[in-house]
Amino acid sequence: MAWQAVDRIHPVIDKDAPQILSDAVREKIRSFFPRYETKRAALLPALHVVQDALGHVNHQAMKEIAEVLEIPPSDVLDTMSFYTHFWDHAKGEKVVVVCRSLSCQLMGSDAVLQAAREELKIEEHGTTPDGKYSLVTEECLAACDHAPCVLVNEKMHKRVKPDQISKLLKDAKNDEITFPRSSLFDKPAKKATADPADLPRTSDVREMKES
Ligand code: FES
Repeated sequence: MAWQAVDRIHPVIDKDAPQILSDAVREKIRSFFPRYETKRAALLPALHVVQDALGHVNHQAMKEIAEVLEIPPSDVLDTMSFYTHFWDHAKGEKVVVVCRSLSCQLMGSDAVLQAAREELKIEEHGTTPDGKYSLVTEECLAACDHAPCVLVNEKMHKRVKPDQISKLLKDAKNDEITFPRSSLFDKPAKKATADPADLPRTSDVREMKES
């Protein structure tokens, strides 16, 4: 493994950068406060709301989340970096996830991943130049009996064969789901925006209410 130099002298955030979280997003985060004993406890819903609004959660957004929750920015980074669901940089409109765990590997997920690489002409963790697709691998997607599996945003594709990848990725509806689901996990924003009102569908995290 090669050593990687990290610049800890220069701040990663411009101190004069304009506010990135809209008032509506901040208000949405504050709306969680009555549900928890501490503001810190609203961190995960806050990350979901911000990622849904902006498409990702960059350092500036982390800093502003920390301000709203009155916690250190490093705590936001700590939590966020634990979950692969959260992105700190722009991602494609559709995130293609190829399962890399045992059942899928045994059933040919390596060939499926290779076919996706060739079709999209990007490597793992890459995003196509038109911003339409990002390609990643994940551990078990919880559908081992249908291996190998590919997730496109929240839509699961089962028993995928390498020669099906091209058709699958060209299908404009490959991320549509046909069953009722949480609005919290709606499709990523088609364009970066700080105002959730601009999005085709917005999160309301109703399902996170305590019953
Ligand atoms: S190993 Fe791929 S879905 Fe479980």
